[in-house]
Amino acid sequence: MTDIQKPPVPPSVHVAILDEQHKRLFDLIYRTQKLRSTGNDRAGILLLLKELVDYSDYHFRTEDAYMLDNGYPLFISHRKEHGQYLMQIKEMLSRLESSDPALPEALDQFLSGWWRRHVMESDMHYARYFRNNPPYEQN
Ligand SMILES: [Fe+2]
Ligand SMILES: [Fe+2]
Repeated sequence: MTDIQKPPVPPSVHVAILDEQHKRLFDLIYRTQKLRSTGNDRAGILLLLKELVDYSDYHFRTEDAYMLDNGYPLFISHRKEHGQYLMQIKEMLSRLESSDPALPEALDQFLSGWWRRHVMESDMHYARYFRNNPPYEQN
């Protein structure tokens, strides 16, 4: 059973702005799951999901720029993961808008699974890379 008493804390990637964004993303996912578990407020879930799509897009643009500007060697494949996620989440959004009854549960699993895996594996990979190869400090 998933613990939904409080939002999970994402591991630090040692970049303050990206850590803040991850926290906000995990909080949005938590709020979406909480809302779903306490009733069937489809309009509320739809609003949160739209916010999550917009904020994910914003986060990916920040993270992509950080990786690209600092010469991360796995930038292309990492950016591809971001793009695939956006396609999947937008598809779920349209399924929610068309009232697909199987969607809410699939959405929960997709969101928590994707974000946990992506941050724990792919984002932590660039975090380790930049700890070993610190970005050039710019004034
Ligand atoms: Fe990422
Ligand atoms: Fe990230």
